[in-house]
Amino acid sequence: MILYFSGTGNSRAVARYLATLSGDRIVGIGRKFIEQPELSATGGRVIWVFPCYSWGVPPVVRRVIANVKGDKGDIHHAVVTFGDDVGLTAEMFRSDIISRGMKPGGVWGVRMPNTYVLLPGFDVDTGAVADAKLAAADSRIEAVWAEIKKGVVSTDIVRGTFPGIKTKVIYPLFTRYMMSPKPFAATDACVGCGKCADSCPMDNIKMKQRRPEWGTDCSLCLGCYHVCPHHAVTYGRVTRRKGQYRHP
Ligand SMILES: Cc1cc2nc3c(=O)[nH]c(=O)nc-3n(C[C@H](O)[C@H](O)[C@H](O)COP(=O)(O)O)c2cc1C
Ligand code: SF4
Ligand code: SF4
Repeated sequence: MILYFSGTGNSRAVARYLATLSGDRIVGIGRKFIEQPELSATGGRVIWVFPCYSWGVPPVVRRVIANVKGDKGDIHHAVVTFGDDVGLTAEMFRSDIISRGMKPGGVWGVRMPNTYVLLPGFDVDTGAVADAKLAAADSRIEAVWAEIKKGVVSTDIVRGTFPGIKTKVIYPLFTRYMMSPKPFAATDACVGCGKCADSCPMDNIKMKQRRPEWGTDCSLCLGCYHVCPHHAVTYGRVTRRKGQYRHP
């Protein structure tokens, strides 16, 4: 089974290609799965595919790991998509899996275009950088699948500099103070198409009088921000001059 979470499509594309290569069943983590998190492993294997968030595992994925029901004999691998580096994400994933009495496997990274835009200094990649990352992704996924198929349990990720500080100090602060959906709003450029609401994996956006309204259960995946055809979704002033990206 391949279980993926994705805001802007990178992890979904990786999961889909892995499913094509392996023939495993593929399931997306969304509202329905969060409420009823049942696993059905393929050949005793679950491959979790998700983006790195602030050098760690996205809180929504940790929530699923904490509640999921599955066979204790299955092995749990992770394939992490990321823009730059992932710190100790592999260690966090393994420790979450072990804390549920489940068996951790390998953790591999696949570099993908950046999606985080909510702090000064963070933006999407230039077109050339994003294209180069996308061009390299398929052969990377094939190499990851070759290892999983052979039963190799690797930790093949880019930790980057100061991984301990990033994951053990910044991640807890980020997830506590920087993940609120409260600043989301739509500007007058909004035409009421509803694409932001349709793209939300958490079903956290309701259209009221042709305008989006954000609820409180948000993964900060930024799907709603990046999907808007009119760049009408803002997160305070910081997103005003930022770019948008969706996996092609
Ligand atoms: C809230 C948030 C935090 C992120 N933090 C990191 C990070 O710590 N390191 C990194 O390399 N990329 C980071 N990114 C970029 C994503 O991991 C990357 O673009 C990923 O491929 C997006 O996957 P998706 O399209 O499936 O949502 C972050 C993105 C978001 C939205
Ligand atoms: S995607 Fe953009 S234009 Fe469409 S409803 Fe959402 S904010 Fe408005
Ligand atoms: S509200 Fe936006 S950022 Fe939050 S989960 Fe939905 S699409 Fe993602």
